[in-house]
Amino acid sequence: MQVLKNKHILVGVTGSIAAYRIPDLIRSLQNKGAQVKAIMTKGAQAFITPLTLSALTRNQVYTDIFEFHSEYPIIHLNLTDWADLFVIAPASADIIAKLAQGMADDLLTSAALGCPRPILVCPAMNTRMYLNPAVQRNLNILEKLGFHLMKPATGNLACGVQGQGRLPDIEDITTWIESFFFPKDLKGYKVLVTAGPTQEFLDPVRFISNRSSGKMGFAIAKIAAARGAKTILISGPTSLRPSYGVEFIPVVSCAEMKEAVLSLYEDVDVVIMAAAVADFRPCYVSQKIKKTERLNLELEKTEDILFVLGQRKRHQLLIGFAAETKDLLKEAQRKLQQKNLDLIVANDVIQPGAGFESETNKVSLIYRSGARENWPLMSKEAVAMRLIDRIKRILCRIC
Ligand code: CTP
Repeated sequence: MQVLKNKHILVGVTGSIAAYRIPDLIRSLQNKGAQVKAIMTKGAQAFITPLTLSALTRNQVYTDIFEFHSEYPIIHLNLTDWADLFVIAPASADIIAKLAQGMADDLLTSAALGCPRPILVCPAMNTRMYLNPAVQRNLNILEKLGFHLMKPATGNLACGVQGQGRLPDIEDITTWIESFFFPKDLKGYKVLVTAGPTQEFLDPVRFISNRSSGKMGFAIAKIAAARGAKTILISGPTSLRPSYGVEFIPVVSCAEMKEAVLSLYEDVDVVIMAAAVADFRPCYVSQKIKKTERLNLELEKTEDILFVLGQRKRHQLLIGFAAETKDLLKEAQRKLQQKNLDLIVANDVIQPGAGFESETNKVSLIYRSGARENWPLMSKEAVAMRLIDRIKRILCRIC
């Protein structure tokens, strides 16, 4: 699933030390199928060279409004006609001030002024500069003028201090750009997604868990947020990073997940329980269990979160996952009914390319009405995309 396939992204680079991260942004956009062209200001060229960006974009890099290019005779207008989106990253305090004033004293500012497409501005500068009221005023003006803004990240800055002002992570800028091209058909809805395994501790150093990587749930949360839903992701421990725009609540055990889910349940429209919640937990002892010849563990059943949600269901749309190794559809159907679900995604977790840890998944859907769909092997993001399509259809029928 490549929403950026053949999309034209014009990247405007300005004079900030974060310019050194733009080659990674270009690669990241290209990996998603986008075509990229770049404009650089004079300041940007103090940090990286046009040759670097030319080699990466495989295109001429444009730096001078007074230089003639036969492919783009009116360079500042033709470049933005080519673009589907203009991304100014990093955006220095200087460019932000110029854009706020409508100045057009070089190629980048002139292109922005005549740009018929949306413009995303990603500020990056020292914290004191970023928090300066003049910069904040200019950013407010940009917002009012219809520019899209990403907030800078907080962390180590090139000047040696910690604070807000870092160019957002390349992954986050890429997600923002991808999201821009998604339909916003879930706007106004609140979606709660669970993901990952839970860990049930038996002593301070050991736990029982399962092989869930969290990829399916994280992908669903990413797509739901990209399609405009206010999205909350509650996940057990994984190595994944939640997508930009997703509110994240990390948990460890089934009990913690249950508490987090229930505290939000009243307020959400859709719950998608993609988490592989542990079914059993050991009795916890507070000291490390010492080595012996044999250890008998007594496990007690955890609470079934989805079952509880099904019992308390009012306006919410409830979607479960069924992780099976045999009798896939029969077991999924049983869970759909027992847990009072609207839809269940049945997942044969031992099939090659499906289930835990894999980048792909092969699922079947069973609706409350009894209708079924069998989907082919797809990337987890593609499964997430289709699943959100189906959820949207059900929501439309309810409304
Ligand atoms: N689930 C849950 N709480 C649990 C166990 C499961 O909320 N304690 C949810 C899962 O998130 C999933 C659905 O219930 O959406 C089905 O989970 P699955 O592990 O397939 O089935 P179980 O109900 O645990 O039944 P079994 O282990 O017998 O297959």
